[in-house]
Amino acid sequence: MASKDKTKYVCGECGYETVKWMGCCPQCGSWNTLVEVTAAAQPASGGRRLGGNARAVTVGSVTERDAARTSTGISEFDRVLGGGVVAGSTVLVGGDPGIGKSTLLLQAASNLMAHGPVLYVSGEESKAQLKLRASRCGVDPELLIMTETSIDAIEAEVDRLKPRFLVIDSIQTMTAPELSNASGSVTQIREATTALTRIAKTNACAVFIVGHVTKDGAIAGPRLLEHMVDTVLYFEGDRHDQLRLLRAVKNRFGSTNEIGIFEMGQEGLSQVENTAGLFVTGGNDTGCAVTCIMEGNRPIIVEVQSLLNPTSFSNPRRVAAGMDTNRLMLLIAVLERRGGLRIGDKDVYTNAVGGIRIDDRGADLAVALAVAGSVFDRKLPESTAVIGELSLTGEIRPVDRLQNRVAECARLGYKHAVIPASSKLKDWEGMDLIRVRYLRDAFLCFIDN
Ligand code: TYD
Ligand code: MG
Repeated sequence: MASKDKTKYVCGECGYETVKWMGCCPQCGSWNTLVEVTAAAQPASGGRRLGGNARAVTVGSVTERDAARTSTGISEFDRVLGGGVVAGSTVLVGGDPGIGKSTLLLQAASNLMAHGPVLYVSGEESKAQLKLRASRCGVDPELLIMTETSIDAIEAEVDRLKPRFLVIDSIQTMTAPELSNASGSVTQIREATTALTRIAKTNACAVFIVGHVTKDGAIAGPRLLEHMVDTVLYFEGDRHDQLRLLRAVKNRFGSTNEIGIFEMGQEGLSQVENTAGLFVTGGNDTGCAVTCIMEGNRPIIVEVQSLLNPTSFSNPRRVAAGMDTNRLMLLIAVLERRGGLRIGDKDVYTNAVGGIRIDDRGADLAVALAVAGSVFDRKLPESTAVIGELSLTGEIRPVDRLQNRVAECARLGYKHAVIPASSKLKDWEGMDLIRVRYLRDAFLCFIDN
């Protein structure tokens, strides 16, 4: 009986567990992905403690030092981490291959050496490749590197060197030797992450883990990893473009609103603190509108472009790049019903300039006016920014932190701002505030242009 209990089957795609083998995983529907896992292969961490003492303590008695943060020396990275790295924490950095994860962590590792020993482990590159990259990026030559894929060997080295920061590049190449599965399988990834979490907690060592992203956008070893670590960051951007965005999707030590902006250059990544001009074309064309979105505490000026084309499909196409397609469809419905525009026989394409992703209702009116401009074939007045949320009734709703947004528009030289009539903002020096109550009022901006 006991030996029977020791065997189970785990889906290599989604981590689904069952006691009986099946050809098709009932959770994710993939075929032939269930692999046998024996009890000996189960997380050994069950028996080991995550750092000590099983007594409850009062929260007040915990010293601040336990949550002290260390700067990575890259302020855009610190911003996303919530102010710096926390000792004993695990940070997962996910992203497409070639986006710059290794480069970012190599640069951060070099800076962190000022605060204690750092160990950079690569399971992907040879020492010579690491050296090449390190010298390109101006990394401190004293940085300790290791090319290893066995978690046990890494743990032994951690015991010897006692690093305060550990970088694992990447989790998919790591193997926990007691498992028979190939590296990269869900069980291996889970086991390796469990071991790394234990290493982090017992040594009060912060561990950065690189995770590759699968075709459908999840970190391979789906979701699974995200539960196990303290912070999950995604590094995104167009590979053919220099701009890279670092975004927190989970953070036990800070907000998940912040983004870090970087530029990939000849000498590695450099941070972009001033976003002026990054997400606008600078011109003023029909079908374009500039807005100001908030990414955490940071206002960012973004241009929305739209293109309309008579459709040759029975259902016209709605394609949104850098924004949610459902939101675009909703805005088109409002434009048709409340604005009286006819768009039903046209394909609509919209785009956020510069590869940024708009996830802010404050950009609604800008998207709507960009599309309306395409319909009217008219421009908005020069140097105009448009801010407001659109409700289903066609009313322009107020947005949060309008003041910060208008201030950013003024700072970057915009002269007119279309804002919701119901907002409390009084005047703004050097800025002509155009208050609009309904969508149709906003259409008046197109007159004379
Ligand atoms: P990399 O950090 O290896 O990506 P990842 O670890 O996410 O797979 O980044 C590799 C890309 O970055 C590669 O296409 C080359 C480019 N790159 C530069 O443009 N400049 C540089 O200084 C470095 C180190 C890389
Ligand atoms: Mg890499």
